[in-house]
Amino acid sequence: MSDATAIAHANLALSKYWGKLRAAGNFPAVPSLSVTLSGLSTRTRVRFREELREDRFLLGDAEVLGAPRARVVELLDRVRRASGESRRAEVTSHNDFPTASGLASSASGFAALARAAGRAAGLDWAAAKVSDLARRSSASAARSVFGGFVELEAGSDEARESDFLSARPVAGADHLPLGVLVCVTTEAEKPVSSTEGMTLTMDRSPFARAWLEEAPRLHGRLARALAVGDFATLGELAEASALAMHASAMAAGVLYWNQGTLAAIARVRSLRAAGTAAYVSIDAGPHVKVLAMRADLARVRGALEDTAGVERLLEARPGPAARIEEAAS
Ligand code: PMV
Repeated sequence: MSDATAIAHANLALSKYWGKLRAAGNFPAVPSLSVTLSGLSTRTRVRFREELREDRFLLGDAEVLGAPRARVVELLDRVRRASGESRRAEVTSHNDFPTASGLASSASGFAALARAAGRAAGLDWAAAKVSDLARRSSASAARSVFGGFVELEAGSDEARESDFLSARPVAGADHLPLGVLVCVTTEAEKPVSSTEGMTLTMDRSPFARAWLEEAPRLHGRLARALAVGDFATLGELAEASALAMHASAMAAGVLYWNQGTLAAIARVRSLRAAGTAAYVSIDAGPHVKVLAMRADLARVRGALEDTAGVERLLEARPGPAARIEEAAS
């Protein structure tokens, strides 16, 4: 076995991860809970090959160099150390959503890479081990290894680089009949990566401590609302988590929003005032993700379609875990 392909989906954090522990190892400073999304997937093939002198990374058929390639090589090095595989690899990756729009997801990307690289190196790892591997590259990717609703705890204060931390599924994809509408508010790439944004927030925001204290409380309440299937409370808490995360970032000068972001938020609030349970979430970019029950989705979609600044809409639902695509024989 030296060739494997995996598919993984992006996820939307309902309670947000924002901030890393200072210790090495990429441990989140706060717990998070996400829903894996059926749309927005990455398909990644990893082939270890004798003739390669260096790892190669192709994204959407274009060779990737520099820092993004280095992050891929780091994950491959971990897999080589764990498996004894010594060959270099060719990694080819495709997103089924436009990569240049700032929606490019490190979550689906590193979940698919971790799954495929482990299998190609002959490691027969359980999902939790794959999730721990993915977390070391991108903490949100640890969650995309699983389907449905997924939790990732914060790292412990005494965490050491070698410590294990994986995400875990807490409810299946059919637990709530949810829909997610992604309002794309620009086609431009995001100016500040999530890692950079988190570091600036932790170093400079006067509200960093408030965020670190509030995030676990919101998370705990949100996990309970999810467990009892209380969508209205879940939505309110998800919106509160996103707004608190962005408020802490903004106070450090990290501003991801544009006019479309504000217009979409206002639209969702007016829908809510008129009786439709719809809520917003926003990640490290200007796009707005709207949560609603599936029965209300057409109405919410109609309202957002003619909101100025919303360029297009993508639709997703709770989706499946990362998985190996068996080669057609
Ligand atoms: O895992 P990263 O480095 O892509 O960071 C993800 C950060 C957010 O998307 C903003 C929040 C989250 O929990 O996914």
